[in-house]
Amino acid sequence: MSDLSNKHIVLGLSGGIACYKAAELCRALIKAGATVQVVMTEAAAQFITPVTLQALSNRAVYVSQWDAREPNNMAHINLSREADVILVAPASADFMAKLLHGRADDLLSLMCLARPIDRVPLILAPAMNREMWQHPATQRNMAQLKADGTHVLDVGQGEQACGETGDGRMLEPEEILEDLIAFFQPKVLAGQHVLVTAGPTYEAMDPVRGITNLSSGKMGFSIARAAREAGAEVTLVAGPVHLPTPRGVRRVDVRSALDMQAAVLKCVDAASVFVATAAVADWRVADVAGQKIKKDVSGQLPQLNFVENPDILAGVAQSARAQSGALYCVGFAAESHDLLQHATTKRARKGVPLLVGNIGPATFGLDDNALLLVDAQGAKELPHATKLALARQLVAEIARRLHSA
Ligand code: CTP
Repeated sequence: MSDLSNKHIVLGLSGGIACYKAAELCRALIKAGATVQVVMTEAAAQFITPVTLQALSNRAVYVSQWDAREPNNMAHINLSREADVILVAPASADFMAKLLHGRADDLLSLMCLARPIDRVPLILAPAMNREMWQHPATQRNMAQLKADGTHVLDVGQGEQACGETGDGRMLEPEEILEDLIAFFQPKVLAGQHVLVTAGPTYEAMDPVRGITNLSSGKMGFSIARAAREAGAEVTLVAGPVHLPTPRGVRRVDVRSALDMQAAVLKCVDAASVFVATAAVADWRVADVAGQKIKKDVSGQLPQLNFVENPDILAGVAQSARAQSGALYCVGFAAESHDLLQHATTKRARKGVPLLVGNIGPATFGLDDNALLLVDAQGAKELPHATKLALARQLVAEIARRLHSA
């Protein structure tokens, strides 16, 4: 199943240079499994041709409300009735002003006004010059559109086509896609604040060398994304990994286990759920050399002494908030064998209500996994799937436990 399977999206384009990104967006939506019906304003057709969007969407593009191809001549009604969402990208300042007043003098605005408002949500991806974006009229219009139930996406920041730099760029197609996919996920964690640890830690030996492990951080990043999609506020404390931050997630980068513990302790009081996926190093080097350890010409090997790192999860699970039920703690266990037995023992040892086991060597660095959930009631398998699919299932499992508590 792709993320947008069975979704029919009406993609509206109003006039702006960001129309060039709408072609890429159209492709991305289709690649994610959606069917796409493009509707453009005449101004949009000055920036990109309907031919391009017809070829990409594989459907005739509509520009005019007088389009005689519809037997009843009511394109504005017919096109919106089968839509799961109307996404206007780019949404120009003028188009937003028009929507706000319920004006309907072209097909796209007419269709937005005539849509069944309870069944067909409207999402706007604004795009305009920074002065236009900051103008009180635009900000006022946006606030009123939101109050009327329209979903207005963020804008990007940076260089603009006009040569100025600031807020107002349209989000990149893949960012709009991620926001749209999130829009369709059930909001089972609305009102929750989820804190996630992810990735390995790096324990320095000297300024150039250190000890780490094979954790890629992918499972933890997927959980952060899934929690955000489910409506939670999410903080992600990440060890050294090369992964993009999921949209809308606050990320704190750390290196060592002690850094990770400090970051967690700083954020955990605001959290209602703590999911510890990080592969925290069990030991750190006791006396980190201030300078690079040089190879001894006589063949003498360096002596490394280790001290045990604090157990971040076990510490948090013993806190008063976790003990009182105000903070729900979820641990992970990466094992190589006897998963059920190790996960059950680890759940008791860490003092957490839910422990998620997986076979580490079978999943490190990959995009898929299989999970075993162990709680006081017993064990439940989440069979082999992508890490994002599993993360969404895990989020639903956590939400179910929170709501039944
Ligand atoms: N964990 C942690 N701090 C540590 C070690 C582990 O928060 N110093 C968390 C991990 O993020 C994970 C869980 O504890 O959620 C289990 O980690 P794991 O390394 O499997 O457990 P250990 O206690 O180190 O047990 P083992 O002997 O199997 O290594």
